[in-house]
Amino acid sequence: MTTSWALPDNPKLQEFVDLAGALATRASKAFAAATSLDALEEARIEYLGDQRGQLRAFQIALGKLPKDHRPSAGRQFNTVKQQITDAYESRKLQLSASNAPSAQLADPTMPARQQWRGAKHPVTLVIEEIEGIFRELGFTIATGPEAETEWYNFGSLNFPPNHPAMDLHDTLYLTGDVLLRTHTSPVQTRTLQRYAPPIRVLIPGRVYRRDFFDPSHAPAFEQIEGLCVDEGISFVDLKATLTRFANRFFGKRPTRFRPSFFPFTEPSAEMDVQCGVCGGVGCGVCKQTGWVEILGSGMVHPAVLEATGVDSERYTGWAFGMGPARIALSRYGIPDIRLLYDSDVRFLEQAAAQLSAKTSE
Ligand code: PHE
Repeated sequence: MTTSWALPDNPKLQEFVDLAGALATRASKAFAAATSLDALEEARIEYLGDQRGQLRAFQIALGKLPKDHRPSAGRQFNTVKQQITDAYESRKLQLSASNAPSAQLADPTMPARQQWRGAKHPVTLVIEEIEGIFRELGFTIATGPEAETEWYNFGSLNFPPNHPAMDLHDTLYLTGDVLLRTHTSPVQTRTLQRYAPPIRVLIPGRVYRRDFFDPSHAPAFEQIEGLCVDEGISFVDLKATLTRFANRFFGKRPTRFRPSFFPFTEPSAEMDVQCGVCGGVGCGVCKQTGWVEILGSGMVHPAVLEATGVDSERYTGWAFGMGPARIALSRYGIPDIRLLYDSDVRFLEQAAAQLSAKTSE
């Protein structure tokens, strides 16, 4: 203790106040100078110690002051005590924080960890791309329920009673005549019931079939339906629109139409695109034919129009249905449809990267 700061045995009031103020300053400096918790503890005992701490001497001196000086001396004492205590506590916090294990281990030069980002599923990307192409051609998007009645799924679409597709082997029934739709075509009926022609809609959605999960079949998968109904619509519109779509989606690969059959279209045609894997020579993917089927289509059967009260003498239309997962397989050479539904992030990341690269070409 340096003598100039020493408190005389019987200090005057002014001396007490000045020396107490100086004590606060010295204590703060001492705490700030402590670079470890041990050093800080030593400084605490020096200034705040109960027995021989420097502050304690002021407390004793306070009691010896004349009574009329005690109130103002006491105020000064309390202020100084608070200042010293605060200085001590905040220095203690600082030193403990920099002593914490995390503070010692943190390496600010370390590169930041890569954030994992979710992405759209490859099939979703294909659906969005197809939607974009048809939107440009004036189609709007419509949807319908996945649980349907037999009438919407089959009856309204001109399936004869007891058609084999209605068999329990092919269709998943829920209760009574309610089933999981086997295609998006029932939304054709719902659209025709709800809107008057001219109609141009694109209907993406999930459908269900009682299939084994094998390289080219999934029990639940996406379909995209298209429907166009107006006065004077002919097969030329069908061919022109679908060819335009295929050229946009597959590039300049040749396409062809093959006669086919669906109860709800007449005439019906399936559309093929040249196999992208072998370029038409024949390979495992196209089963040596050189062609890959991409959709079913046809002129809307008059019975379908009549089932919803549309005058089939005045209006005609065409429709198509395709499976975007299948299309993704053939466009990107993915060998097994199950890869798309297995949720293996390593595959999905790779496929999505490949898709977005191709889409932006
Ligand atoms: N609904 C048919 C299927 O699932 C596809 C299709 C739709 C065919 C519209 C013609 C017209 O196979």
